[in-house]
Amino acid sequence: MKNFENVTIFNHPLVNHKIAILRDEKTSMKEFRELIEEITTLMTFECLKEDVPTVECQVTTPLETCTQYKVKDDSIVIVPILRAGLGMVNGVHTLFPSAKVGHIGLYRNEETLEPCEYYCKLPEGIEDKLVLVIDPMLATGGSASDAITMIKKRGCKHIKFMGVIGAPEGVERLATDHPDVHIFVSTLDRCLNENGYILPGLGDAGDRLFGTK
Ligand code: PRP
Ligand code: URA
Repeated sequence: MKNFENVTIFNHPLVNHKIAILRDEKTSMKEFRELIEEITTLMTFECLKEDVPTVECQVTTPLETCTQYKVKDDSIVIVPILRAGLGMVNGVHTLFPSAKVGHIGLYRNEETLEPCEYYCKLPEGIEDKLVLVIDPMLATGGSASDAITMIKKRGCKHIKFMGVIGAPEGVERLATDHPDVHIFVSTLDRCLNENGYILPGLGDAGDRLFGTK
């Protein structure tokens, strides 16, 4: 895959360790859900490090009063792509508990692999916020690209995308469709199969999170 300025692939050994367990077909639904959350928190830590707004405050320690900085976390809106993105929301909330949540519902047509929209509810005032779009799987990139287009139509200018596993096809498409959006994925897999599944991947993230198959 060619290099894109707006793409960061983490490849962090501690995250990769968790992804190894996540991929395993024997991993239970409970463990899968917990791992997605933990990976998301670790990724958020890095992904938003340049965007954490802080407010000055005075703190009195047992010894003296000093100036400190606390996170002003309501300047971030989380937008999970349904369903699998829902599994990542708590992982972001661990670090940004006051972040509002918008929802975009998209499912892939199993034959065309084109995303179909079925739901969109975004918080008021989202246009002034940093919007963090989350979905564990970036396969063809169609769902993430369409979701970001919908968010841009609401006037949002500062958008980031965070996913766990990316296929080269999806990363390339998203980076090209939205060069102004920084894309973060934990790991880059080999390719897509003929049904649009990521190889080696982890299977269907929504089904594994919610036990639907
Ligand atoms: C999965 C996944 C992404 C999408 C990625 O959702 O969670 O949203 O596929 O594929 P793409 O990059 O080719 O668009 P799916 O459509 O299976 O819906 P679900 O989360 O409800 O299972
Ligand atoms: N969506 C998934 O959940 N998994 C894939 O491998 C591709 C799309």
